[in-house]
Amino acid sequence: MNAFPSLKLIDGKATAARVLAEVREQVQTLRQGGVQPGLAVVLVGADAASQVYVRNKVLRAEEVGIRSLEHRLPADTTQAQLLTLIDRLNRDSEVNGILVQLPLPQHVDEHCILQAISPLKDVDGFHSENVGGLAQGRDVLTPCTPSGCMRLLRDACGELRGKHAVVVGRSNIVGKPMAALLLQADCTVTMVHSQSRDLPALCRQADIVVAAVGKPKLIGAEWLKPGAVVIDVGINRIEEGGHSRLVGDVDFAAALPQVAAITPVPGGVGPMTIAYLLKNTLLALDLQQQAAHPERTPCLSPC
Ligand code: GUN
Repeated sequence: MNAFPSLKLIDGKATAARVLAEVREQVQTLRQGGVQPGLAVVLVGADAASQVYVRNKVLRAEEVGIRSLEHRLPADTTQAQLLTLIDRLNRDSEVNGILVQLPLPQHVDEHCILQAISPLKDVDGFHSENVGGLAQGRDVLTPCTPSGCMRLLRDACGELRGKHAVVVGRSNIVGKPMAALLLQADCTVTMVHSQSRDLPALCRQADIVVAAVGKPKLIGAEWLKPGAVVIDVGINRIEEGGHSRLVGDVDFAAALPQVAAITPVPGGVGPMTIAYLLKNTLLALDLQQQAAHPERTPCLSPC
């Protein structure tokens, strides 16, 4: 039996299933029109966690009818070889999305690889064209995990305008794009990180806390204002009582009596990342079709 009141739990699994059902329906319509979206997933090396993530991405893509093209390359793949593959995928009209799983081996320059992906196929939203576009509030491909968190927040909070959101962590993958998306949703946004002074006091001001630091159970009850909504992006494996289990960056049991709503780990943010990757693949296809036929989507402002 679940000891926690379910109303407080933000069910990422159920929301992700709804997003995937929407994607599946859109893919069906596209396929009836003779177009099958394609997603290329590139994995370099044999990092165990990355292998699991990539397998899940490929499986979910196939479940919704997106053609997935998996490229598993050995750990000693050179940067030049990887750039050659990306160039081929950029030119392939059957590939609408390209994802290079991170981290890459140390001898490969991650920034250089991410910049080589066509911004219109950049389903991770990591290319600086898309990072800049998000900062400017343009309609671009945005990183999957923060996009999924926004969907959970909109469902849990309704109106986000004017809410004070505190983002804990400043990574390029989650913290920074999350802050930009919250700002775009008219939140007041504070970013805090390991060098911030009095982290608990800063977090206690928040209506919304997004935790993305990778430190197990860092955020306790004393960090949270009563009635706050908490999105826990952390997925940390810990050993406890002779067992290994996954916990978030938030001390879930301690936070629960304090909060209005919270994502569990696992089953909160995790499933949303893949759902938004597949949603982004359809968005990428749409952007590519617009770029191929600019006359069908008139630009109203000079750009
Ligand atoms: N590694 C961990 N998270 C991600 C992600 O969202 N995208 C990619 N490409 N690699 C990751």
